Amino acid sequence: MSASNNTFDPVRVAVLAPAEVDRMTGDALAAIGAASDFDELKAARLAHRGNRAPLTLASAEVGALPPAARAEAGRRVGQARRLIDEALAARLADLEADRDRRVLLEEAADVTLPWDRVQAGARHPVTTLAERLADVFIGMGYEVAEGPEVEAEWYNFDALNFPPDHPAREMQDTFFVAGPDGAPRSGMVLRTHTSPVQIRAMLTRPLPLYVVSPGKCFRSDPLDATHSPVFHQIEGLAVDEGLTMADLRGAIAAFVEAMFGAGLRTRLRPDYFPFTEPSADVSMQCHVCRGASAEADGSPCRVCKSQGWIEIAGCGMVNPRVLVACGIDPERYSGFAFGLGIERSLMVRNGLADIRDTLEGDVRFSRAFGVEA
Ligand code: DAH
Repeated sequence: MSASNNTFDPVRVAVLAPAEVDRMTGDALAAIGAASDFDELKAARLAHRGNRAPLTLASAEVGALPPAARAEAGRRVGQARRLIDEALAARLADLEADRDRRVLLEEAADVTLPWDRVQAGARHPVTTLAERLADVFIGMGYEVAEGPEVEAEWYNFDALNFPPDHPAREMQDTFFVAGPDGAPRSGMVLRTHTSPVQIRAMLTRPLPLYVVSPGKCFRSDPLDATHSPVFHQIEGLAVDEGLTMADLRGAIAAFVEAMFGAGLRTRLRPDYFPFTEPSADVSMQCHVCRGASAEADGSPCRVCKSQGWIEIAGCGMVNPRVLVACGIDPERYSGFAFGLGIERSLMVRNGLADIRDTLEGDVRFSRAFGVEA
């Protein structure tokens, strides 16, 4: 700012000449008119009305004019400021009106549309997968059979040819139901698999027999990423004249294709279960890498851990001793059986890493599976 003086300096006050003030005003109005959004308008305001704006600097020179010229120059600068301020306010109002119009259009809500106050629930993915698995077999002529979750030891073990000292009968695997008198055992257990339903079906249903049995099972495993004390299995059993391992293979191949897609191969490898002879474990070709053991980019397949195969079930030809325990003539009839874990199938099919997600009841988990009712 210049101190007032009486010696007129024409160079310093050239910026106050009418043509100069008009030019600065014109520049400011052009910049304001061209501002197409709030940021540009702010930049125009700083450039033309800020502390370093040409007009601001020029007005500081009013005091350097001869006294007679000051009032006239002050009016001119004041007029220019008002013009610019009015243009700023008008442009701001325009931009705000534009924004309001756009928001009204873009965020329009039809308040007359009906609204579901109560979100639709959905069944749990374990339930829907169990039903889908059962449906595959129902499509092949099987019936659904059920059995109790609190099961007699005889059905769960003895009739299935588990010897009395079989390790699966140990406390660390099996929940035993205590007797009424406080005895540690009552002869009842929480069923450790769905295989006892095989026995119930053979004892109560006419032959030939084709059943599947989905249901809850219990084992005294600690809860971790891959084990849960409560889980689900689905059991299959066929008893007919002339059934062979080829029929078993056919049923399993049909099932794998229905669940995981056409063209996936299945593999049986020898295994041991007391209630089947021979017994096998069932693997299917990995549905992600399709047996290539690697992902498309060459990295190891995470789903099958680069094995190319995924173990999904146990199976076998029904042990003749089991047929005999159920009053079926093993000379005339033969049977095959299989059993698989539903949570495990879900984990394989949907790439889940932790079985606990299936138990915790968090809708953020189940919602990802859709709202199948
Ligand atoms: N019950 C067996 C388990 O829980 C699974 C199983 C294996 C079932 C072979 C079967 C079978 O019917 O034939 O491990």
